[in-house]
Parts: sequence; C-alpha cells; structure tokens
Amino acid sequence: MKNNRFFNRDVVSIKDFQRDDLEYLFKKTDEMKKLSPKEKDELGKARIMGYLFYEPSTRTRMSFEAAMASIGGSSIGISDLKSSSIEKGESLQDTVRVMDLYSDIIILRHQLDGSSKFAAEISDHPIINGGSGSEEHPTQAMLDLYTMIREKKKIDGLKICILGDLKYGRTIYSLLYGLSNYDVEIILVSPPTLQIRQESIYGLKNKMKIVELVEMSEKVFRDADILYVTRIQKERFSDPQEYEKVKGAYTIDSNILKQFKSDIAIMHPLPRIDEISQDVDSKTNAIYFKQASYGKDLRSALLALILNESPL
Ligand code: CP
Repeated sequence: MKNNRFFNRDVVSIKDFQRDDLEYLFKKTDEMKKLSPKEKDELGKARIMGYLFYEPSTRTRMSFEAAMASIGGSSIGISDLKSSSIEKGESLQDTVRVMDLYSDIIILRHQLDGSSKFAAEISDHPIINGGSGSEEHPTQAMLDLYTMIREKKKIDGLKICILGDLKYGRTIYSLLYGLSNYDVEIILVSPPTLQIRQESIYGLKNKMKIVELVEMSEKVFRDADILYVTRIQKERFSDPQEYEKVKGAYTIDSNILKQFKSDIAIMHPLPRIDEISQDVDSKTNAIYFKQASYGKDLRSALLALILNESPL
C-alpha cells in the first residue's frame, strides 16, 4: 500500500487530519479486521508501545494495549504515578525523554492542555494524545466517527445532539472538530454553567449548523439521528460546590427515549456515571459498548499505520 498518510506521524489534534485522512483510516480499520492473526502479528512484531497516563483511564489505555498486542507488539508504561519516579518529582519532559528511549510510539494522557504538543516536540518517536486536559482526545473522536459510519452507514446528513458537560469534556471538542469535515447539524445541550467554550469552537459555526440549548426540548430532539451523551467531569471543577449544583442535571432513561426517533443511536465515550440509566443498556439504540469495542479496532489500525510505511 502506498501513500500511507499516518506513517510516523504524531496524533496531537484531530484538526491535523482532514476528511480524506479520516476516511483512509476507517477504510484501513475495516481492511485490518479481515487479516488473519498471523498477518496482523507482522504489523507490530518486535515493536514497543510506551504509555504514560497521568490521569486515570480504563478504555483508552486498555484498548491501546489490546490493539498493540493484536498486531504482535508489546507495551510498557506508567499508569500508577506513585510507583514511578514522577512521584519523586521527575518532570514530564524528562519522563517523555526516557520513555522515548525505550519505545517506538508513545501514548500520553495528561491533565494539561498542550501536554501532547509539548511531548511531540521532545520525542523522536510519534506521540499519540490519549487526552490532554479539557482540550482534546483525538483518537476518541476518530473512533466516534468510525462508530457513526459503521452504525449509520454515513455521517453526512446526520442530526447529532450532544448532551452534557460541554465546557470540560475534551472528547466533545475533538468530536466537533472531526464532524466539521462533514455536512451535519449539531445541537448542543448543557446546563448553563457547562456550555461549550466559544473560543475553542471559533470558526466551526461557519462550517456546520450548531444550535445551543440549556434544556432538553422534545421538539428539537425529535428528529435527531444520534444522541451523544457525556458525563459531568467532576475532576475538572475547582469548586466542589459548583459540581454539586450540576450533578445529576440530566439522565437519559428508557422513558425519555420514547420522545426520540425509534432508530436514534445513543453514544457515550464512557465512563458513564448516572447520565444514562442502566435500563437503556438493553435497547438496540444503546451503542456505547459497541463504540468502546470499535476503539480497539481503530487503534489497532492507527498503530499499524503509524509504525509501518506499507502495512497492508
Ligand atoms: N473514553 C475514554 O477516554 O475512557 P477512559 O477515560 O476510560 O480512557
């Protein structure tokens, strides 16, 4: 395969990838799923993925580890800061520099906006942003777009409601940047104190129709194709009382689902706290665990493409 658009590249922001790049990644994800385990093993053989998780993670870290194993590679990393020299005060700069000595590619999650960009400037090997502060989570958005294509067969023409903590939820920003490559209609719904950061979506309103609301409205939701729900990001509130004021502000349950189109797809990057009731899980509309599963597929392809000039 020629013209691998991802070979040896950092994935710091989804803004660095155009529609053609994303669709190339989705196509390669589909193609890779058809390879035999032996063929896949060749893609990451003798390669090492390093991970540095300064914030907790279940899906991002495990799906990257599973993805690396699925292409025959191995993983080393830090997810328990107390058992590393970060606990002794070692800087991000030095930690990345050392991980760069031991790995072929590095996944970084860090509480600071700009952390992945900073790491990419230090590291000789590619950096993948596994979540940077409230700024971005580009591979989550890539797998979200892939999920929409797999489940809805298209992205153009979709009406997508995004509900939750739009101020701090980094997945939302990457998702909106990714969706701006498509012809979509967006409805943003959040409590008034958790509305989208206008400065971070500057320019997007020229590219797609965006409506902002502070309350769920049956009239607006009625013809939505996707409801993308996010949790309130408790850890990003400087004042715990402010969190208490918005905690439990919205819950999607099977009763509310009756207001929507029968085939609406409910997505969520997870973890879910209480914003989607467990009685929704058994509905065919609930695709959030399938979405998490696509994360491993997409990240396998992403790793294979970054690590190999001609992987397939
Ligand atoms: N969606 C997501 O980033 O999940 P984790 O925080 O568990 O990695």
